[in-house]
Amino acid sequence: MNILVTGGAGYIGSHTCILLIEAGYSIVVFDNFSNSSIESIKRVEKIVNQSIPVVEGDIRSTKDLEKVFNEYKIDAVIHFAGLKAVGESVDKPLKYYDNNVTGTINLCEVMSKYGCKSIVFSSSATVYGNPASNPITEYFPVGQGITNPYGRSKYIIEEILRDVFISDNSWKIVLLRYFNPVGAYKSGTIGEDPSDIPNNLMPFISQTAVGKREYLNVFGDDYDTPDGTGVRDYIHVMDLADGHVKAIDKIKSFDKVMTINLGTGNGYSVLDMVKAFEKASGKKIPYKIAPRRDGDIAMCYANPSYAKEVLDWSATRGLDEMCEDSWRWQSQNPNGYRG
Ligand code: UD1
Repeated sequence: MNILVTGGAGYIGSHTCILLIEAGYSIVVFDNFSNSSIESIKRVEKIVNQSIPVVEGDIRSTKDLEKVFNEYKIDAVIHFAGLKAVGESVDKPLKYYDNNVTGTINLCEVMSKYGCKSIVFSSSATVYGNPASNPITEYFPVGQGITNPYGRSKYIIEEILRDVFISDNSWKIVLLRYFNPVGAYKSGTIGEDPSDIPNNLMPFISQTAVGKREYLNVFGDDYDTPDGTGVRDYIHVMDLADGHVKAIDKIKSFDKVMTINLGTGNGYSVLDMVKAFEKASGKKIPYKIAPRRDGDIAMCYANPSYAKEVLDWSATRGLDEMCEDSWRWQSQNPNGYRG
């Protein structure tokens, strides 16, 4: 089976490429490298010891996509490509809706034209907004209380894909709602490589540990959580990658749009993460308590039982492993793929 991986050079995409190849799938990576580097694919090629076809292109370009579909017989698409910086999405909403929403519509149109109707989409727990309680199941309301265009673009794409299925039941659609991906491939040769100052907690902590940042700002210590700092469901990127392989394994057997949380079911606070990272790295992480960040919620963790039921998937890697693997990547590559 030939899988097109849009955004395959990115953080989650590159890790997923490894497991797809190890599971015996053929893959084609499609990426515009706007927020990723070809170096990640070169390193994946070393890990899997084979070359990977890469097409440079933009999901908004019909011409770029048709080039791939003309050249390869694609059976299914894993669609990672998209912009994901929350703050930037508030400043540039049209850029986000254009890349994420228009890009996905264009992708589906080309897929349909070429008779490829199986897609696994990278959604996010952000679609739950501020959940009324935790853990969060897939039945929780979505779309309300989303605080930024990035999050809304994920929600809108989910709705569009549901409508696509209603119009044509031969589509096979899996919406994977990620919680907070962290960690890196064991060798430390690939990992998360934010191009700017990181927005997310884990890359900020690891850059602080390696000395690139002076201290971490802890955004709020007065939330209604055990230690007052925000609680999230951090999931190892290799577990997340494995969830995609399981979704592809089963996709042909699904007869409805599958909406699946990919999380561990455990919530850890910002200070838990600092402690765990200090233990894994042997470095002190200086931090200061700062005001709450706009749009943040107190707590968000998954009920992952549906993923177990329908994909026979559950996360197997714990917090120590997440921090050790993030640290290996960060300490071996202090400047990411830029050397
Ligand atoms: C954020 C996005 C979410 C997106 C996800 C992608 C916001 C409001 N939400 O989620 O839409 O899907 O990233 O991974 O940005 N923290 C600090 N100091 C920092 C950075 C973060 O204290 O420098 C805290 C946050 O307040 C939060 C926790 O760490 O409590 C996790 O933050 P982050 O990694 O940005 O993820 P989310 O906020 O869950």
